[in-house]
Amino acid sequence: MKRILVLHGPNLNLLGTREPEIYGSMTLDDINGMLEVRAKEAGIERIDFLQSNFEGELVDAIQKARGTYDFILLNAAAFTHYSIAIRDAIAAIDVPVIEIHLSNVHQREEFRHRSVIAPVVMGQIAGFGADSYLAALEIAIRRLERER
Ligand code: DQA
Repeated sequence: MKRILVLHGPNLNLLGTREPEIYGSMTLDDINGMLEVRAKEAGIERIDFLQSNFEGELVDAIQKARGTYDFILLNAAAFTHYSIAIRDAIAAIDVPVIEIHLSNVHQREEFRHRSVIAPVVMGQIAGFGADSYLAALEIAIRRLERER
């Protein structure tokens, strides 16, 4: 039985109304609902969700994932580009993390091209809107199935 934690960083609570031309029209609840359906279908025991605008809350959640979750799907949002605290928390635990972005950060402003978490995550998925989350979940499911 496997457990997955989905973490959403700052301003992602505004999805649906926040720059929809960049981030799409789905709300965070829509995205979480879609992930929940797929996780259940795939026999994942538990999928939990947390959105926070606070760096420390995300750091706490990453630390606590140790021993509780088998995978973390993380859209660190703006923290991606500068939070050494989140990077260090990921490096400190042995839970695999997939980095997610709705938008293709490499097509956008220069400051979004750099991810300080990229060196410590399993891999990145960016540019597919809400499907970026679904693709990350699919990878987690496949990896966990292989471990069985
Ligand atoms: C984002 C991209 C980040 O640059 C931005 O700060 C976000 C969202 C994305 O999902 O495309 O808040 O992570």
